[in-house]
Amino acid sequence: MSSRTQPLETDYMRLMAHELKIPISSAKMLADLVQSTGELNNQQQQYLEKMITVFDRMAQFINDILELARLDKNHEPLEVLPCSLTVFVKDAEELISAMIQEKNLTVVHEFDSELSVVEGSPQLLALVVNNLVGNAVKYNVANGTIKIAIKAIENFYQFRIEDSGIGIPQEDLPSVFQPFFRSNHAKRRRIEGTGLGLALVQRVVELHHGTITVSSVVNQGTTFVMSLPLPNPTPDQSVSMNA
Ligand SMILES: Nc1ncnc2c1ncn2[C@@H]1O[C@H](COP(=O)(O)OP(=O)(O)OP(=O)(O)O)[C@@H](O)[C@H]1O
Ligand SMILES: [Mg+2]
Repeated sequence: MSSRTQPLETDYMRLMAHELKIPISSAKMLADLVQSTGELNNQQQQYLEKMITVFDRMAQFINDILELARLDKNHEPLEVLPCSLTVFVKDAEELISAMIQEKNLTVVHEFDSELSVVEGSPQLLALVVNNLVGNAVKYNVANGTIKIAIKAIENFYQFRIEDSGIGIPQEDLPSVFQPFFRSNHAKRRRIEGTGLGLALVQRVVELHHGTITVSSVVNQGTTFVMSLPLPNPTPDQSVSMNA
């Protein structure tokens, strides 16, 4: 099932996010400073660490809002570079390796080439892969699996990520790419999130002339399939291919 997102109320969102950005980063800085001012007892240390985690989450939320607003407003062409999807996958797994270990997940790769290069914005495509890998880990169950396959099919690279996690009820599937949507199936399990990750993913995929679809079975797992165009052949290559 695929779905297109509605435009966000960007001006208010952007204003609010900007106004909150500085106080939140100041609060985070102060919390970091407290940590460096001297010995804290165990309980103080625990509270402070929780506080820092909350500030980090708020800062991430603000950044996601600003990024969504920027993508909604900005119709300038993307500055594109060759990007390796397999490198993004490995970087994303590195970022979330602590949770992969904690849940004892098995991650399987099926890559049909070493780099799988597409043309795109490295920062935005890394964000897409981080979100999809992040969800596959976050919504997975202990001892679960994640399969990531990347292969060239005609003019596209197909990126497929399949997890063995909690799944998404069928009636929620059309909404998962909407900003702020979170399934009750996830909320009931007290899994944290803001519901912005997939909205960003879909915007970025559209900007790269790609597509993304989702399918899922509750308590069995979820699969996202993203297709991104292969880079145009350079004139030299097209000559040699036509020869
Ligand atoms: N792999 C998955 N397995 C199960 N549910 C998922 C999966 N990916 C997304 N979802 C559901 O779709 C909702 C939207 O996902 P999205 O990534 O946009 O937000 P989030 O994970 O809640 O928060 P964040 O903004 O931190 O990513 C989730 O809240 C969850 O209900
Ligand atoms: Mg997410």
